[in-house]
Amino acid sequence: MTADIIDGKKFAEELRGRIADTVPAFRDSTGRVPGLAVVLVGEDPASQVYVRSKHKATLAAGMESFEHKLPATTSQEDLLALVRQLNDDESVDGILVQLPLPKGLDEKTVVEAINPDKDVDGLHVISAGRLATGLPGLVPCTPLGSIMLLKDRLGDLSGLEAVVIGRSILVGKPVAQLLLAENCTVTMAHSRTRDLKEVVRRADIVVAAVGRPEMVKGDWIKPGATVIDVGINRVPAEEGKTKLVGDVDYAEAMEVAGAVTPVPGGVGPMTIAVLLRNTVVAAHMREGLTPPAGL
Ligand code: GUN
Repeated sequence: MTADIIDGKKFAEELRGRIADTVPAFRDSTGRVPGLAVVLVGEDPASQVYVRSKHKATLAAGMESFEHKLPATTSQEDLLALVRQLNDDESVDGILVQLPLPKGLDEKTVVEAINPDKDVDGLHVISAGRLATGLPGLVPCTPLGSIMLLKDRLGDLSGLEAVVIGRSILVGKPVAQLLLAENCTVTMAHSRTRDLKEVVRRADIVVAAVGRPEMVKGDWIKPGATVIDVGINRVPAEEGKTKLVGDVDYAEAMEVAGAVTPVPGGVGPMTIAVLLRNTVVAAHMREGLTPPAGL
């Protein structure tokens, strides 16, 4: 038996279409379009690629994109001053400071300086607290994208056993909170977990977010389980080239699971689509409008 492939690229394209469809009504009631500000400090090549993709996707959805590219030598004070300026700018609904920041800049301080109502990354302590306590707020993009794919595949997630591998602030912790909110029985596994394979074998839903190439093997997976692979690892391939692989051994998982997200083309494309979704939601909340349904 071969598992189904969960097509995150297609789902993300459809979501981006639904987001773009909400922009005209927002413009009609406010006289402006939702705006996203992205701050990139330094010249990390991967970050440059991400930021360019975000810019293009924002414009393609009919929204405003404000790009701020600062040199790696930028001081903490100057970066904080920019964040405050964006907090005060009425045309900016979402602020994303691309991580990681260059050495010498304190990520936590910078993230906490963002107005939580504009925290489209969902990384502010207020956003995390709202998520943990069930208050409306902005939710990290990759975790929410993972949940959207799961609900599209499985419908109601109530009562399912979910195992999250990895406890990062960016993915593991928020994804566990979201699964809990969907009434899953959630286990958080990590590098110190004993008998990880046996823990994962219990899961109806596996979310792998550890950053270890192909760590989750086929015999870790319960037959028929749904596997969400958040890992993006660059590894050596033939002829001195490199390739991207996830945290799950894809070929093995395809033999056992019910459905698997591929890498690339699974969770990855969801991140930017949800970033645009969060910007639209933030824009509506800031204007006192009800966010559109179906996003
Ligand atoms: N770098 C890698 N992923 C992310 C993300 O989701 N948000 C931010 N701000 N930086 C990142």
